[in-house]
Amino acid sequence: MSVPKKPLLKPFFLLLLFLSFLLFFHLYLQSTKTPISSAIAPSSTAALIRIRPGFRSYDDYIKLQLNKTLNPRLRHLWATRDWDRKVRVFSRFFADLAAEGLLSNASAALCVGARLGQEVAALRGLGVGGALGMDLVPAPPLVVAGDFHAQPFPDESFDFEFSNVFDHALYPERFAAEVERTLRPGGVAVLHLAVHRRGDKYSANDLLGGVDGLVALFNHSEVVRVRKVDGFGLDTEVVLRKTNTKRNKPTTKSK
Ligand SMILES: *[C@@H]1O[C@H](CO)[C@@H](O)[C@H](O)[C@H]1NC(C)=O
Ligand SMILES: *[C@@H]1O[C@H](CO)[C@@H](O)[C@H](O)[C@H]1NC(C)=O
Ligand SMILES: *[C@@H]1O[C@H](CO)[C@@H](O)[C@H](O)[C@H]1NC(C)=O
Repeated sequence: MSVPKKPLLKPFFLLLLFLSFLLFFHLYLQSTKTPISSAIAPSSTAALIRIRPGFRSYDDYIKLQLNKTLNPRLRHLWATRDWDRKVRVFSRFFADLAAEGLLSNASAALCVGARLGQEVAALRGLGVGGALGMDLVPAPPLVVAGDFHAQPFPDESFDFEFSNVFDHALYPERFAAEVERTLRPGGVAVLHLAVHRRGDKYSANDLLGGVDGLVALFNHSEVVRVRKVDGFGLDTEVVLRKTNTKRNKPTTKSK
């Protein structure tokens, strides 16, 4: 007897998807576990940024983040009901930044923690053709896989980085250090934050001292401006520019 082909396709596809996810997750844990766990260091900004209790390990933290990111009901809503509205709001933010000369069509732009990539779609819609998103779970073609604690990009890859997930960082120092590492000198980082209210239950940290605790983490950047915004529960936009000094590299005289 012959097996009907069509009904098999869907389970097979799902199995493939599941297996590739397992592989990705395994590789991801292998590649990031050690450096991330060993990166925890007491920080002078500890009093200004509170890490929420309850994460027994980095794996615990990743499980919680994935629980939301992989929730099929939420992914469906993000892709349908939320899509246009979010792209519109992001477009307004980015148009303002472009008008101020902080972003251009030629910018290599990265959206950190972009989920399905509405912010990436907004950037591309404005003409920033090279815009790319990154999240724990990829969402092709706009969003590639990556953890903001250990970005999968070489040093000085981007001119512009946007993120509205700083509050999800279990290691805020790592988040900041990775943005600075992957930005080119003179590159711009734009962060949307919950300063005047709390993040949601998926937040891993809270800013207790306004934006000061955050700004202090960016050792190689200067503040361009801070302004109030209304961005999906986040109320403050901080724009930083990476200074021209290279980090952790001795200055060498050439020629
Ligand atoms: C997420 O957590 C809820 C309970 O909080 C649980 O019912 C659900 O199975 C979890 N989903 C995933 C994808 O881990
Ligand atoms: C990209 O170029 C187009 C056409 O010149 C212009 O209208 C648009 O504002 C530019 N976008 C950005 C982000 O600079
Ligand atoms: C910033 O500098 C402080 C003090 O030198 C250091 O403890 C901290 O690790 C640095 N942060 C980053 C993100 O490099």
